[in-house]
This record gives sequence, structure tokens and C-alpha cells, in this order.
Amino acid sequence: MNTSEMRSYPRRVATEAGEIEFRLMGAADEVAVLDFAQQLPVHDLLFLPRNISEPKVLQAWIKEIERGAIVSILAWKGNKVVGCGTLVRDPWSWSSHVGEIRMVISKNVRGLGVGRALTQETFALALSIGLEKLVAQMTVDQTGAIAIFEGLGFKAEALLRDHVRDLSGRKHDIVVLGHNVAQVRAQLEAYGVPGAVQN
Ligand SMILES: CC(C)(COP(=O)(O)OP(=O)(O)OC[C@H]1O[C@@H](n2cnc3c(N)ncnc32)[C@H](O)[C@@H]1OP(=O)(O)O)[C@@H](O)C(=O)NCCC(=O)NCCS
Repeated sequence: MNTSEMRSYPRRVATEAGEIEFRLMGAADEVAVLDFAQQLPVHDLLFLPRNISEPKVLQAWIKEIERGAIVSILAWKGNKVVGCGTLVRDPWSWSSHVGEIRMVISKNVRGLGVGRALTQETFALALSIGLEKLVAQMTVDQTGAIAIFEGLGFKAEALLRDHVRDLSGRKHDIVVLGHNVAQVRAQLEAYGVPGAVQN
């Protein structure tokens, strides 16, 4: 990823769950992230291509971070990871201008504004590295996630029926939301705030 103008970390935000610190994820965070992922309900992981509560998947994820294809922001409350916002793109694909946002928050701090703050931070990160389009996908029952993304200007672009299957064999629909961020950047520039999303 082009990291030259990337937002800097750590950053602190005040939420109803207390003070949360956002830091970029790296290899040293493996144990803390695994602990976080293994406490998440499996249903909440269905929007992800792989099960991140598996140590092997987590190790592959860290490799992708080191390769530069993924940037993950961890939300820390004290010494615990309570959330993770990820930006994924494939710089060698025909969609190198597109990033996918993936968001997941610990069950015990939900509804306290951490998800909204981390989604906004991941969105700002995507703008700062020059992505032109963003997508996010989730099971259709994740009404909280849909509310957050729609609040940022995302709109439904696709519905994938029976697209994921949970451990009990039940299938679920996935909704894909998209956002043309190049247009937002152009609007910000028109309002005279071209540097609003950097650093
Ligand atoms: C979606 C998720 C990240 C939200 O995290 P959170 O910390 O609970 O979010 P917030 O507390 O910031 O709430 C944000 C908004 O969601 C809405 N919301 C939260 N939970 C909701 C629910 N169960 N039903 C409807 N709306 C809900 C609220 O309206 C809130 O808006 P408000 O601030 O105007 O009240 C979290 O529920 C999660 O991890 N879900 C599982 C993973 C997932 O599906 N991720 C989305 C894929 S990208």
C-alpha cells in the first residue's frame, strides 16, 4: 500500500466504553488478537473469508500485513484488544483502487460507540492512502454494521444469497455495501479541506 501519507498511530478516542487506543497491528499482537478472536461468537465471523479464531489463519493474516496487502487497526482498552478494523486490497489486481473494510468489536463493549469510532478511523485511513472505492460486506442481520456504514455514505450494491455457511450448516445472505470515496475527496477539496483526512 502507498503508506507515504498514511495516518499516524497510536490515536486515542473517548467512547462510552472508556478511553480506547487505536494502534496498527503487527506480529507482536498475535496472542492478544487470538484471545480477542476466540471470544467472538462464530456468527459474527461469517462475513470474513476465513475463520480468524484459528491460529493458522491469524499467522497468514500477519504475513499479509507484513507484505503490505492488509492494514489492521486494533482498538485497545488497557491491555486487551476489543476491536479490529481492517483494510484489505490487492495492489496487483484490476481492482487496486478498491479497498475492503472489515470490522469486528468484542461483544462486551458493543453498543458503546467503539465500532462507530473504529469504522470512521478505518475509513479515514483508506482515504489517506488514496483508495478510490471502498466496500464492506456483512450478513444481512448485522443491522448495527449496516447503520454505521450507511451513516458514512455506503450504499447497498449487491446481495449474495446463501453465500456463507455456518458451522451448523445453515446458510446466510451477505450484503455488499460500496462507497465511491474518490467523489468524497473531490467534494472535500471543493469545500477547501484537501488535507482533512491526512495524518
Ligand atoms: C457491527 C459492529 C462492529 C458494531 O460495533 P459497536 O461497537 O457495537 O457499534 P457502536 O456502539 O459504535 O454502534 C454504532 C451504531 O450501530 C447501531 N447499532 C448497534 N447495535 C445495533 C443493533 N443490535 N441493532 C441495530 N443497530 C445497532 C446503533 O444505531 C449505533 O448507532 P448510534 O451511535 O447512532 O446509536 C459489531 O456489532 C460487530 O462486531 N459485529 C459483528 C461483525 C460484523 O458483522 N461486522 C461488520 C462487517 S464489516
